[in-house]
Amino acid sequence: MTQNAQVQKSIQISCEDNLLLLKRQQDASVDLIYSDILYGTGRNFGEYQDLKPKRDVIERHYLPRLIEMKRVLKQNGSIYLQMDTRINHWMRILMDKVFGYDNFQNEIVWAYRTQGFSKSKWSEKHDVVLFYSKSKAFKFNLEDVRETEISESTQKRWHKEIKEFGMIPTKKNGKTYWNSPYSPPRDWIDMNALPQAHTERNGYPTQKPKELIKRFVLASSNEGDVVADYYLGSGTTAEVCKELNRNFIGCDINPRAIEITKNRLDRDESGWAFSFL
Ligand SMILES: C[S@@+](CC[C@H](N)C(=O)[O-])C[C@H]1O[C@@H](n2cnc3c(N)ncnc32)[C@H](O)[C@@H]1O
Repeated sequence: MTQNAQVQKSIQISCEDNLLLLKRQQDASVDLIYSDILYGTGRNFGEYQDLKPKRDVIERHYLPRLIEMKRVLKQNGSIYLQMDTRINHWMRILMDKVFGYDNFQNEIVWAYRTQGFSKSKWSEKHDVVLFYSKSKAFKFNLEDVRETEISESTQKRWHKEIKEFGMIPTKKNGKTYWNSPYSPPRDWIDMNALPQAHTERNGYPTQKPKELIKRFVLASSNEGDVVADYYLGSGTTAEVCKELNRNFIGCDINPRAIEITKNRLDRDESGWAFSFL
């Protein structure tokens, strides 16, 4: 291979129970796991039946899978599991048990605005993403996930300065102070859920925004790394990984989910190898 030859990246997707895929995978072969898991609503979403919100049901389902997830993660790998407040307390105890309390890194809150409010208590408008590492030596690409709260007009006004110095000037008592407009990310993300009419919508009932998943993939993996999603749904993580040049492996037990995923990936692009099982 010449020095400039493009290294082929791969997207491997299978329709099966994730425990089967996990059991086939080699030890320490995955850099990052992101999965938007079963939330324990007990609901039938049409596309799939969710687990009941019972502690024994949740533990029976997740414990064997978490043990495998830890095994397949590389020593410097990370795992992000997304859920909501129905099961996050049980999942945290399970993840502490499997990954170790010392490897708990964050409980990230995704706050969104959707229609439908409770009149008898606080309306539930957030998801929880539990982030654990396999060891202390995990990646965190701070520069790729810095946040800014300055307005678009301020960004436009200081466009040249931001580009050149990564700073914006403020004047106080005749002196100029330079400050970074970007701060390290907080453990909460204020981002809207996809409205029904959004162009990204593909009809899957629990589809998540690409922008949300992008933040986790950017923070905890590098180009060429292997990212896995064992609860793939409509393939949001697969599409994000393709856009960010990460290798991807994932599965879903629902054939419709795989069908939608296939349709949303541009499979003619050179430099990529696709496999669907
Ligand atoms: C919350 S949805 C994921 C939605 C996805 N994030 C998206 O943007 O479309 C969870 C998915 O897990 C799948 N699933 C449930 N049990 C599974 C299992 N044992 N193995 C693999 N997939 C499973 C369901 O079919 C469902 O598509």
